[in-house]
This record gives sequence, structure tokens and C-alpha cells, in this order.
Amino acid sequence: MVSVDTEVVNDLKSKVNIADLISQYVALSRTGKNYIGLCPFHGEKTPSFNVNAEKGFYHCFGCGRSGDAIEFLKEYNQVGFIDAVKELANFAGVTLDISNDREEKNNPNAPLYEINNQAARLYNILLMSTELGERARDYLAERGITDDVIKRFNIGLAPEENDFIFKNLSNKFDEEVMANSGLFHFSNNRVFDAFTNRIMFPITNEYGQTIGFSGRKWQENDDSKAKYINTSATTIFDKSYELWNLDKAKPTISKRREVYLMEGFMDVIAAHKAGINNVVASMGTALTEKHVRRLKQIAKKFVLVYDGDSAGQNAIYKALNLVGESDVQIVKVPEGLDPDEYSKTYGLTGLSALMETGRIQPIEFLIDFLRPENLANLQVQLDFIEQIAPMIAKLQSITAQDAYIRKLVEILPDFEYNQVEQAVNLRRENMNITDHSVSDYGASNLVENFADERDYSNLDSAIPIDFEEIFYENNIQPQVADRRNEPAQVFQPTIQVPKLSRSERAEEMLLHRMIYHSSVLKKFSQDENFRFVHKRYQDIFEKLLLEAMVYEQIDESHLASELSEDQRSLFYQIISLDLPETASSQEINDLVSIFSNEMEQIKFEELQQQLATAEKAGNKERMLELTLQIINQKKKL
Ligand code: CTP
Ligand code: MN
Repeated sequence: MVSVDTEVVNDLKSKVNIADLISQYVALSRTGKNYIGLCPFHGEKTPSFNVNAEKGFYHCFGCGRSGDAIEFLKEYNQVGFIDAVKELANFAGVTLDISNDREEKNNPNAPLYEINNQAARLYNILLMSTELGERARDYLAERGITDDVIKRFNIGLAPEENDFIFKNLSNKFDEEVMANSGLFHFSNNRVFDAFTNRIMFPITNEYGQTIGFSGRKWQENDDSKAKYINTSATTIFDKSYELWNLDKAKPTISKRREVYLMEGFMDVIAAHKAGINNVVASMGTALTEKHVRRLKQIAKKFVLVYDGDSAGQNAIYKALNLVGESDVQIVKVPEGLDPDEYSKTYGLTGLSALMETGRIQPIEFLIDFLRPENLANLQVQLDFIEQIAPMIAKLQSITAQDAYIRKLVEILPDFEYNQVEQAVNLRRENMNITDHSVSDYGASNLVENFADERDYSNLDSAIPIDFEEIFYENNIQPQVADRRNEPAQVFQPTIQVPKLSRSERAEEMLLHRMIYHSSVLKKFSQDENFRFVHKRYQDIFEKLLLEAMVYEQIDESHLASELSEDQRSLFYQIISLDLPETASSQEINDLVSIFSNEMEQIKFEELQQQLATAEKAGNKERMLELTLQIINQKKKL
């Protein structure tokens, strides 16, 4: 077991400025005490991601994710605690003494990994040190696969005889392991190697363990049909989940948040030779939901570099539906070539240039891909507009919208610019009505946002002006209602926060004061009648009281560690509020009056309900009692 001392971790955290750490991965800009940026954990166009350097935590108002430096690294790099600590130590320039002896002995699949690993080693030895291997290496050299590449990908050779692996490994492994390894065929009570006479590409899982093979035929006189033969499904090899090269590509994918998807081994190898390593292959054309889900954990953007033939283009179309268009770019490999072939014609620099600068947006691909044959037909043109206009309407930039409208006009013989534009505008209007994303509310909604579903109109006048401002600064900044004109990447020094009712807002502000002003917490801890309206705030209040019994001052990171995940997110949201240093008792009273009013209203409604129940039951005595209480309660409102 690997473990690190809590003290060591705390010491490490205190050495690191979390804003410096996070700005390695996220562009941050300063606002007041905090830093903000686009959240790396959910797609967004206006920043909700808040980093508090002073207190050492981050919080996203959009998706609620929050934590300290360690949690950031865990989440961002999709690694465990130990790896995050290591990375943090690395960043801080501190050497940690952690021995890593990952226990694999208990894994029931361990012998399956082992037998496949040993087979890969044998195939590789055969390729590198036999006469047949020398011929195979000539074939590989011809295809641009040097000894370096052979080594990196552990490429091997299966010989012509069909018992090579069996002879070498059968005395080392149980029959059951052999039977489940995928390395053998069984027929008529005899065992044969599953692969003969092929160049062997080991398939590794993301941890680098060998889980299967793909064998390519290579000799001219080989008249077997399949170009590649793969290990059939085993307990450790599921082709719909595994991606070739993920083990080697993972660090670069995590760093760039971007992954290239290709079809085949030779394509990934060509990209590697061209210096691009965040590349995986789906081993054929069928990308699955499982592939996508795994990749989305480490990458934000997918770049599809499928073969230029029609199978490849169909695969791109399918992949777009799986991935979601917003996170994809496409590289169309010209002349029906695959990336490997392209590099043979245009050189490795040609390939890297194509991959880096030859990307197009899904819509551009789709206009081309969906473009009908018989465009002379008016109805066909209309249908085509119907398909494409919604996609154009969804685009953020007006310039881009304009460009694609033009493109459509170019293609369609019977339509003018303003007609296509009108179709797009129609879609846009429809979208505005149904689309209630967080970033969409404007300054004019300000009052409604506070008011929520309850009526606070009688309260408004009671709120002092500067108080309104505090609300305002912490919460809703006026947003330009239509941001489509602006480039998506421009940072506004504003932050998106969730919609809260006026009461919720007041409760959060009061909790904030309690956390940082022990006198405020004390005052309320002594008031037995005091309660927060919403249970989630009351829960945090109770945790604060417990904490205050033990510690003189609230220690944010200690308290955070005591909270459930949801509470922690809420807690970070509360301490992220940017309030003035000093809290006046007037402010505190005002805050309480905002939500205590709501509380009284709730009590009033509860009493009325009870009265109705008593009435139904015909309980006269209870009815009288409740009526008196209701009259009293009414006075408080
Ligand atoms: N593939 C497979 N089984 C096949 C054919 C292909 O598993 N019968 C997978 C392999 O991973 C292959 C990928 O699909 O790398 C792409 O197939 P293809 O384009 O036909 O092969 P290339 O990658 O171009 O391989 P080569 O250049 O060696 O012909
Ligand atoms: Mn090829």
C-alpha cells in the first residue's frame, strides 16, 4: 500500500499558489481577490470557474466542481490521489519519498496479461533475431517502420509454424489461462497458435498491459483473405472499448485536452513519426460510445482523421453523432488517402501540417457530406436548407454564420443570400424561445432572478441601496443579451453564477459572514429560535457550529474535508462570495430579515394547512387553537 502523510500533503499545498498551478492548464484572469476562467470540466463560453489563491481552492459556479490543488490535479488529469500528490510535488519542486508498489497479485486477470505479455516478447524476439524476421523487417522498412518504431510499439512476428507460442508457453501457464488468453485455437482436441505468418501488433490497454494482438499479412504469396486478424474477445480484450496507443498517448492527450482519432496502426505510427503523439486508433472504423466516454474523461476536443475513402467519411458522420458536434474538428485526408499514405506522398511535415492546420468544422464537413446529387430539383434544395440551417443558426459567430450561408448559396442554384439567411434567422428565433441556458439571461431579468417564484415586491424598498450592490457584484452581472457577435474566447471580467432566490442569496451571505467572523457565528449559535430557511444551508450551519466547538477559527480546508461532496461544492460557493472585509450589524440584520420573512411566510402557510386538516377532521378545539396562532403569525408578516 502506498500512502502519504497528511502533514506532508498540507505542507505541499501551502507551498503552492493554486492560481499558478491551475493557470498551467486554464487561462485565468484576475478579478479582485480571485481569478476566473473558462471551466475545464464542462464546456462553457462565459467563465464560471473561480480560483481563490488566498484560500487555495477553486469553484465552478456552472458545474459546481470545486476543491483544492490535489483535487484539481486528480480531476483534470484523471489520476488517483498519489499521482496527484506526485504531480503537485513536481510542480512545487519538492522531492517526495513515495514507493509505488502497485499490487497486481490479487487481480484474477493477472495471468492473462502475463501470458499475452510473454507472447508479445516472443514475437518481438522472433522478428528481431531470425532469418525470417530479417525479411519481415525488410517489409516493414519498406513501409517506413524502423527499428526504433518496432521497439516503441513492440512489434513482432508470428512464424509459419502453428505451435510456436504453444511450445514456448504451455509449460508455464494453466490450461484455463491458455484457453482464455485468445492466443490459441482449439480443434479436434488439438491446440494451435491463433496467429501464424503475420506481422504482430500487440494491443495494450491504457496501462500498457498486453491484452491482445492484431496480425497483418505481409508475404506476397499469402493468399489468406483478411489483411488483419485480431484476437477475438476475451475477458481482458473488448474491441469496443480499447483504443490502440492510448497508453502512450494519454499524457499528451491530458495535457492538450485534445485527441486525434485515426483508423489504423499504420496511421498512428505515421503521426508518431511526424511528432504528434496524442493519437489513438479505433482499429477500423467503428467508434463506439464506450470509446467516446473514456476519451471524454481526458480530452475536451476530438480531431477526426479518418481515411479519405467513403468508408472513412461515413465513419466521420457516425462519429459526429456520437461525440457531439461542439467538441469535434475534422481533418479530411485528400485524394482518398489514409494518413499513412498521405505521409508517404507529402512527407511527415506534410502530415503534421495537415493535422494541425487542415482542420474543418463539423458543419463544413456536413455541408459537403450531406450535399445531395440532384440539386436541380427545388424540393431537394429546400430539404437541404432545412437540414443545414439549424446547424448554421447554432454557430456562435456571426462571421461564421455568414460564411456558411454564402457557401450554401454557392451550392444552391435557385436561392439567394437573403432567402437562406431568412431560413437561418427563423431557426435562431426558435432557438431563443426554447433555450434557457445559464448564460442567456440579461440585465433586465435581474429583479425576476432575485424574486424567483415568490413575491418580494413589498420587501424591495426595505433594502438599502449599497446592499443591492453587494448582491449585484456577487451575482448577476449584466450580460449582453446576444453574444453571437463576439468572438467566443474573449474574457469578460464577469462570472456566471447560478440563479438563486433572494432568500437563498441572503442565506449564503450570512453563512459567509459566519465563516469569517466568529462573532457573527457566536451570536446565532446562542439564538435557539434561529434557523435557515433551506435545509442545505441549515446543514452547513450545523457543521459550522460543530467545527467552532473544537476550533477557535474555522479552517476552510478542514471543514471542507468534513462535508459531503454536495455540501463541499456549496461551501466553496459560499466562501467564494466577494464581500467587503467588514460586516456591520446592520448588514447582518438585513440579511436575516430577508429570509426570516420567508420563514414566517412558510410557517403561516403551514398553519393554514393544519387548519384545513383540523377542519376536515371536525376537531373544533384544534381549529380554535390554530386560528389564534394564524392571527398571531399574520402580524409577523
Ligand atoms: N482492421 C481490422 N481488421 C481488418 C481490417 C482492418 O481490425 N480486417 C483495422 C486495423 O486496425 C487497421 C484499421 O482497421 O489498422 C484500418 O484498416 P485499413 O485502412 O484497411 O488498414 P490500414 O491501417 O491502412 O493498414 P495498412 O496500411 O497496413 O494496409
Ligand atoms: Mn494504410
